[in-house]
Amino acid sequence: MKRYQNIPDSPFTPAFGKAPQEVIGRSQIQDHLAFAVDHPNSQYTKTLITGVRGGGKTTILDQFEKSAQDEADLFVISTTAGKAKSLAEQILGQISQFYQDQRMLPKIKNLTLTVSGLVAVRFEHQKTEVPFSQAITTFMDDFQMQGQPNLAPNKLIITVDEGQADLLGLRAIGTAFQQWQRHNYNVMIIVAGLPSLTSKIGQDKALSFLSRSARYRTTPLDQDQVATMYYQTFQTADIPISQPLATAMAQASQGYPYLVQLLGSYIWSQVKLDHRPPSLPEALANAEADLERTVYDLISHDLTQSGKEMLVALTTVRGFVQAEDLVSRIHQTKGQIKAILADLDNLGVIECVDHDFYWLALPFFKAYILKNFTE
Ligand SMILES: Nc1ncnc2c1ncn2[C@@H]1O[C@H](COP(=O)(O)OP(=O)(O)OP(=O)(O)O)[C@@H](O)[C@H]1O
Ligand SMILES: [Mg+2]
Repeated sequence: MKRYQNIPDSPFTPAFGKAPQEVIGRSQIQDHLAFAVDHPNSQYTKTLITGVRGGGKTTILDQFEKSAQDEADLFVISTTAGKAKSLAEQILGQISQFYQDQRMLPKIKNLTLTVSGLVAVRFEHQKTEVPFSQAITTFMDDFQMQGQPNLAPNKLIITVDEGQADLLGLRAIGTAFQQWQRHNYNVMIIVAGLPSLTSKIGQDKALSFLSRSARYRTTPLDQDQVATMYYQTFQTADIPISQPLATAMAQASQGYPYLVQLLGSYIWSQVKLDHRPPSLPEALANAEADLERTVYDLISHDLTQSGKEMLVALTTVRGFVQAEDLVSRIHQTKGQIKAILADLDNLGVIECVDHDFYWLALPFFKAYILKNFTE
């Protein structure tokens, strides 16, 4: 027992939106984003990140924001849609803070929501309110963000997480963004959210600024890298776990980022808090219960009856499925089946590969469907 004393607190982060201590993979997207910071013609100047729940979208934004914050010429405004404050209010709030930090005028005096849901801004030196886009233009002028990038002007970076939760806000940003780009302002925008964003963007003219954006969809983490991370993390803390256990944990996680953290965290507490040898089956059972409670129960609320029936049908086939494979299993036409599959994909419940091959990507989800969606 003595050897387990003085083990540091768990480095695992089994909570949504909580960036892991060690980010696995994702170097390619980070490289592209970093490149775009210095190269305004890069398509990553506008980037859309989508993926299933718990797939690691917020973590990608977070990692990028952290690296950008170290650079003095970058202004990062980080927002999350669907919160009490609208996107525009969050953006203007952070801009207001910049002015204060720099002890600079003009200060933003107040923000009001207009009837249309847009924000109007009043600066202290002005009598009248100006619209959202103009307020930000003023900000960018004050902080010299216009001009040739090789003359090193400052750059504004706006990130929007959970983009699907406020399409109205996204439209306002999109409309303004297009104007800024036309006038050579140095601005970059990264939007993250559920896959439904992709289809929304296709249908909505005001969101078309994102239709020419770079796209990134989160993929499962590499299991070898996950195994190495487990082994080294426990090793560093002087908690003995064997290589085979690290490998078994990584395989069990299926590379699903949230499960990677859950398993690490449970094994850690078995050893640290309970002072006993690690048990993967027990950690898996605990993690499954967490996944059901924190992800799958939430997802269920968004499902229609036909969506649930489709999921049940999906559990009866192995691996990847196409719409035609389901015709014999569900009483719908091929067209309807395609539409239901697309809806499930949009909700981030199933994964689509190569346009029309689908599979149940979330770990333990099959068992959850059978437990909850069948009589
Ligand atoms: N690259 C990674 N390496 C290790 N762990 C990760 C990685 N990305 C995410 N995680 C972990 O996975 C969990 C989910 O991550 P995150 O909140 O970023 O997902 P998300 O896609 O934003 O989910 P949601 O759709 O619900 O917002 C968190 O516990 C996080 O610490
Ligand atoms: Mg998130």
